[in-house]
Amino acid sequence: MSTPVTDPGAAMTALMTPEGKRDPYPLYEALRAYGPLLRLGPDQLVVTGHAECFRALREPGLLSTDGAVQDRMMPGWREHSSWVWLARNMLFSNSPDHERYRRFFSGAFTPRRIAGMRPVAEGLIDGLVERLAGLGADGAPVDFMAEFAFRVPMAVMGALLGIPEEDQAAFRGPVGDITTALEPIRDLAQLDRGDGGMDRMAAYFTELVAARRAAPRDDLVSELTRARDESGELSEEELIANFMLLLVAGTEAPMDLIGNALRLALDHPEHADGLRENPGLAPGYIEETLRFDPAAQALNRMAATDMEFCGVPLTAGTKVTLLIAAGNRDPRRFPDPLRFDPYRTGNHALTFSGGAHFCLGAALARMQAETALPRLLRRLPGIGPAGEPGFRDQLVQRGFDRLPVKCG
Ligand code: HEM
Repeated sequence: MSTPVTDPGAAMTALMTPEGKRDPYPLYEALRAYGPLLRLGPDQLVVTGHAECFRALREPGLLSTDGAVQDRMMPGWREHSSWVWLARNMLFSNSPDHERYRRFFSGAFTPRRIAGMRPVAEGLIDGLVERLAGLGADGAPVDFMAEFAFRVPMAVMGALLGIPEEDQAAFRGPVGDITTALEPIRDLAQLDRGDGGMDRMAAYFTELVAARRAAPRDDLVSELTRARDESGELSEEELIANFMLLLVAGTEAPMDLIGNALRLALDHPEHADGLRENPGLAPGYIEETLRFDPAAQALNRMAATDMEFCGVPLTAGTKVTLLIAAGNRDPRRFPDPLRFDPYRTGNHALTFSGGAHFCLGAALARMQAETALPRLLRRLPGIGPAGEPGFRDQLVQRGFDRLPVKCG
């Protein structure tokens, strides 16, 4: 760690360095030492406690980052297409728009629909496991992130939305670029990368919606475009913005979940063997991966009015940073929290958020990862590290950029 931790502000600064992003966990412990709620100046509250994050996510007075919130937090954002599009999706909206969007899209993610996706996901995953085995057959290192971890959720979301297979691999760049717009920024120019990714993706979805409107198929883009045209519940831009959210949210974090789950299996061969012998262990294993090394580390909220939160007075406009990955290691909630224990029971990680914005794709993400891991480990019993992994320089959505493996 390059920046010494002398106070909470120094710990937060250290968290933003490449070293801090690579291994934020000691810094969360340093922050926790100051208590579950930390004031950083008059305008920011940092939350590291599990109970406090849980409560914040259900507090109607704490707003998600919609356009009005962004006007206070990041003046100038309206010149940047990344946030112009983000602010039209359900994740970055509040009541009443949020309910309108969520109602419109939630029918596509009912437990029945997800259960119906399982055989499709299993077929796609088997194909991708075979593909990986083929790529690594000569013993050469293969990048697990590009060749498997991204392709699994991309294939599943592609099948669901109706994105042709030949277009899918090219989305990794724009998806990754868009997630950089969610990082804390000091300078609006840091949004340029996200803007570029968003422009490319918006052009793609505008065309896809037009094509499916003209000639519908059996996919979600066709179904929801027709529903929009019939009901008028959403504008065309809102429809496209939320399709883009589904693709970005439905690929980047699930990719990181699969990458982190494999890395933990390589670090803990006894658990990898357990998964090979008994795939029924996968739900507990994936739940513990989500707690221990979550793809989503931090969420933002803003106090709508002057209010009190857990006994702390907040003025309107106070930024509330929820370090959910720290909450996932809160010793008041999890015994022996720094230990990776897939046999843990009552695992209530904060990784899929909670309250109104609870992840719409949580069941889908779990299903894919629980299917992929045991199949991969069984088919490739000799899978192992083949060089140094690379980390993305991101904190909010943290994961590997590159994870070289040998397949046997
Ligand atoms: C490991 C995988 C995933 C993680 C860690 C994750 C995490 C999250 C989190 C933390 C939120 C809420 C953020 C907040 O409260 O501010 C969220 C919302 C959302 N997620 Fe996921 N997600 C994952 C997979 C997926 C998948 C597969 C989909 C695909 C459909 C998806 C779609 C969404 C949507 C649409 C929302 C917005 C819900 C709303 O605002 O009402 N996510 N996700």
